[in-house]
Amino acid sequence: MDENITSIQWFPGHMTKTKRKIEAQLKLVDAVAVLLDARVPYSSCNPDLRSIINNKPRLAILNKCDMADAAETKKWLAALKAKGIAAIALDCKTGKGMNTFIPAVKNVLSDKLSAWKAKGMTGRTIKVMVVGIPNVGKSSFINRLSGQTRAKAEDRPGVTRGNQWFTVGKGFDLLDTPGVLWPKFDDKLVGEKLAYIGSVRDEVLDAEHLAGRLLLYLRDRYPEMLCTRYKLTEEDICEKQGYEILERIGKKRGMLLSGGEINTERAASTVLDEFRGAVIGKITLDKTEEHYDIRI
Ligand code: G4P
Repeated sequence: MDENITSIQWFPGHMTKTKRKIEAQLKLVDAVAVLLDARVPYSSCNPDLRSIINNKPRLAILNKCDMADAAETKKWLAALKAKGIAAIALDCKTGKGMNTFIPAVKNVLSDKLSAWKAKGMTGRTIKVMVVGIPNVGKSSFINRLSGQTRAKAEDRPGVTRGNQWFTVGKGFDLLDTPGVLWPKFDDKLVGEKLAYIGSVRDEVLDAEHLAGRLLLYLRDRYPEMLCTRYKLTEEDICEKQGYEILERIGKKRGMLLSGGEINTERAASTVLDEFRGAVIGKITLDKTEEHYDIRI
């Protein structure tokens, strides 16, 4: 699986192009809104972003917080703040937290806004570029804030779109990402976590292996949620390997092949689907204490 993840959708040529496009368009904006997935804030952060956006004021947005562990989201917000990075948590599906976005941007730009005011430029439009890896929720974010529909074609390499500007309120414009920012696929753990959340195409991955690895993580970090969802006992998961837990889940759910063998393939896709739908629970895979080195 490792080699698969490394080779998926990794186009260094396109990254260079994106970098150039973002650098060119940065001149047009006052700040950058960096969308991250609240379940994997570190893994969903493009590793080159820091150098691309350079010293532009930035706001980190932990999106999909409805599916993340609320206590961990709180820790991430504090950890980012401690690094001097302003951050908010949002749920673009329901719109929760959306009203904190504009005030947070204004806060990030407070010095600039004061300078504008001093020069009598009070009516000047604030311009913010939205960036984030594919599937992190950029379309949902832009559509919800602007009431317009963002073209979806952008995530296909080589496809360019027309209008990238969206007005989200009086004196406030968003600029859509001018290219595709890929995540850090060359880190095995990052690739795995992106696969758990469904940001890597399933057909190239070994679902049983992936589900087994995820179950090990849940066994160690979220044992109660795991046991509750699949009616497992502590004994069922304690010191068990991922594949053994997968077999127990298949057995409990009556997933059997014609010869009576447990259908672990079906169990694996159930576990992955349920994890991705937050049916197992609200779970965060990246922990702040393991990722002090996050750079935005
Ligand atoms: P992108 O432009 O960055 O590629 O992401 P996009 O907005 O297309 O969102 C990717 C998926 O994530 C979509 O689901 C979207 O509905 C979902 N999503 C975005 N923000 C949130 C959020 O805050 N919470 C939750 N739970 N989901 C969110 P999809 O299954 O691909 O499409 P659909 O559900 O919209 O049909």
